[in-house]
Amino acid sequence: MQKIGLGTAAIGRPQYINIKSKETKPFDKKSFTEDGLSVLELAYENGIRYFDTSPGYGMAESILIDWLKSKSDSEIELATKWGYTYVAEFKKDALVHEVKEHSLEKLVSQWEVSKQLKPFLNTYQIHSATFETGVLKNKEVLHTLSEYQKKIDLKIGLSTTGANQLEVLKEAYDVEVNGQQLFDVFQVTHNILDQSVTEFCNKMALDEKRIIVKEALANGRLLPNKNFTQYDLLYNELKKLAKKYDVGADAIALRFCVQSLDSYSVLSGALEKEHLLSNLKANGFVLEEEELFLLKSFAISTDSYWNERKKLSWN
Ligand SMILES: NC(=O)c1ccc[n+]([C@@H]2O[C@H](COP(=O)([O-])OP(=O)(O)OC[C@H]3O[C@@H](n4cnc5c(N)ncnc54)[C@H](OP(=O)(O)O)[C@@H]3O)[C@@H](O)[C@H]2O)c1
Repeated sequence: MQKIGLGTAAIGRPQYINIKSKETKPFDKKSFTEDGLSVLELAYENGIRYFDTSPGYGMAESILIDWLKSKSDSEIELATKWGYTYVAEFKKDALVHEVKEHSLEKLVSQWEVSKQLKPFLNTYQIHSATFETGVLKNKEVLHTLSEYQKKIDLKIGLSTTGANQLEVLKEAYDVEVNGQQLFDVFQVTHNILDQSVTEFCNKMALDEKRIIVKEALANGRLLPNKNFTQYDLLYNELKKLAKKYDVGADAIALRFCVQSLDSYSVLSGALEKEHLLSNLKANGFVLEEEELFLLKSFAISTDSYWNERKKLSWN
């Protein structure tokens, strides 16, 4: 399977966290769905077989359910999540876009919808597990996930976000139900700027855990632009490497993720077709050791990374 997978946050809701500034066209459900379907098909035609989604991504699950009706390829793998509800009703200026709730009721009710993604669905993740929601200590929730794991044949996982990703991962790795580790899939933020989970994830990968990388482009911050001049030195290096390998800076940043962490898949979060095709060029070359080493030197502190991310808006 090729390393690059597709994250579907952007195909399911017109606004999400990124650094875009261009005006988006008025929302129209029919054409939005058609666009989403065509991005999924383009991804598939170009070899993508791993897709990540969530009920928190607006219509993404329902677009996938529709798209999968025409597919019978057993190589397609789907991961979804539970715990976030999309509430913005596709309005750009909504005050609240999503609501987080890690209760048993939310788990059971979201599963009733997500189960339509079977038989392609093989991974079910807690969406943004944190200490604050107590989800990693909620016995009812953990036992229910363990039941799904056994009865429905699902890999159980979680995604992490925030400056304490590493602490959350360590606690999650140790969670057991009936003497067995519960979590087999860990979706983490990893990129040139935030490399804080590299070592622990590589250790988990040795233990046959699946690591999925998200935010490989740091929501677009890794694409050379004028708003983050503090990264100009990094942008220069990305541009040089992009020229050398005849790809875009996006492919260099994604390739960095492929080579710096032992992952099962690195997600592209592209919505624009040309961006997706450009992201996929990360499959076509290998960075040299010293290039990888140089890119590794641009890591910033996790606190700075996440403080800056908090300031990005929904566009
Ligand atoms: N907590 C969680 O569980 C969580 C959180 C975040 C993400 N995720 C998952 O990870 C997936 C990936 O999303 P991400 O946020 O990690 O995205 P990302 O890959 O870090 O960044 C995506 C952004 O980069 C832009 N982009 C990509 N290639 C480009 C190019 N060549 N030129 C210009 N712009 C380019 C995209 O623009 P366009 O949209 O215009 O193409 C989009 O705005 C999501 O879809 C989701 O599945 C999960």
